[in-house]
Amino acid sequence: MKIIQTVASVALLSTIVLADPLADAAKQNGLQPIPESKAELMKYINKAEDPITDAKVELGKMLYFDPRLSRSNLISCNTCHNLALGGADGVPAAIGHKWTMNPSHLNSPTVYNSVLSEVQFWDGRSPHLEDQAQGPMQAGPEMAAPKDLVVKRVTSIPEYVELFKRAYGEDVEITFERIASVIGVFERTLVTPSRFDDFLNGHDNALTDAEKEGLQLFLDKGCAACHNGMALGGTMQPFQVAAQYSFVNLGGFKGDENGMVKTPTLRNVTETAPYFHNGAFWKLTDAIKEMGSTQLGISISDDEAESIATFLGSLEGRKPQIVYPVLPASTDKTPVPTFD
Ligand code: HEC
Ligand code: HEC
Repeated sequence: MKIIQTVASVALLSTIVLADPLADAAKQNGLQPIPESKAELMKYINKAEDPITDAKVELGKMLYFDPRLSRSNLISCNTCHNLALGGADGVPAAIGHKWTMNPSHLNSPTVYNSVLSEVQFWDGRSPHLEDQAQGPMQAGPEMAAPKDLVVKRVTSIPEYVELFKRAYGEDVEITFERIASVIGVFERTLVTPSRFDDFLNGHDNALTDAEKEGLQLFLDKGCAACHNGMALGGTMQPFQVAAQYSFVNLGGFKGDENGMVKTPTLRNVTETAPYFHNGAFWKLTDAIKEMGSTQLGISISDDEAESIATFLGSLEGRKPQIVYPVLPASTDKTPVPTFD
């Protein structure tokens, strides 16, 4: 008994005495861990307007994977935000309806942890996920389905109607906005804690020495000026602060009306090449060096870029286990696909 007590107090002492000063430095620079406790995390991902429940998450997941929300019956949210591929699609510019490339050559951002972002879309035009999901279903180059087509497809399938009732009560009105919102509820659960979070949450050995070196460099270079908070991004920031972006003319995207661009989250960034709004960079180390020149006006060496990339690898998160849903069959009333 006495031995156990001594061991316990030594363990306690060591966490207090040896708490890594690098973790404190990271927090002072504005980096924030995903909380370890589920209750604490819920404060960040839950919303009074459409609270998370199991029934909604399951329904939202089905709709997220259902290609019948697209005009062609071929494209689902998961086509471009593939949950098996870091929540993105791995191509430079998104490809949607009738093999159409995004007209501004925009790259699909990851949906993992997008709930932690302050705004959605590269120009920040959407305030949250429930609103955001309305865009791609209707967008011509994405799913190309008008609101009433989406509603007709869903309400023509009795199982879906039943699941909406289970999630929102007998009186639920299955509107386009309601469909988008329940997809948003599912997306809010796509949070991926990583070893980096373990480190900031007090587990000093969660990062290797090489990753700690990379984190130190990330702080020293000033990356956390924009890549901060729980998302390590997610806010609108000035772009091309110090120099012009190398591929500024590819796609013609210029940011919002003030030239600001949404800082992408760096969580799972090692899984979501190619990089930047127009997907022009395939190598993470090249993207890091480009950030040095365009955003900070400094030259980052190959070795330094490798080191920072090593740190960014520690942001590969533990993904929620997603069981691929079996979707209810269409009926005679379900509008058939068209390819115009
Ligand atoms: C054809 C590919 C495609 C499909 C299908 C698609 N998206 Fe997207 N998504 C994109 C692209 C490209 C962007 C960035 C567009 C922009 O910024 O204007 C984006 C942006 C987003 C964002 C914002 C992320 C961020 O970090 O700003 C979320 C969330 C999202 N999509 C969710 C969805 C959902 C939910 C669906 C299904 C209803 C969906 N997407 C269907 C390509 C797609
Ligand atoms: C002044 C704000 C700012 C600073 C400082 C900054 N970034 Fe960025 N970062 C951004 C913005 C904005 C983007 C998106 C640019 C775009 O695609 O148009 C971005 C994009 C990235 C991307 C591409 C991510 C993706 O998914 O496409 C990486 C990687 C990155 N930054 C890493 C870094 C690193 C490492 C540093 C430090 C050397 C750094 N950034 C410094 C604002 C900043």
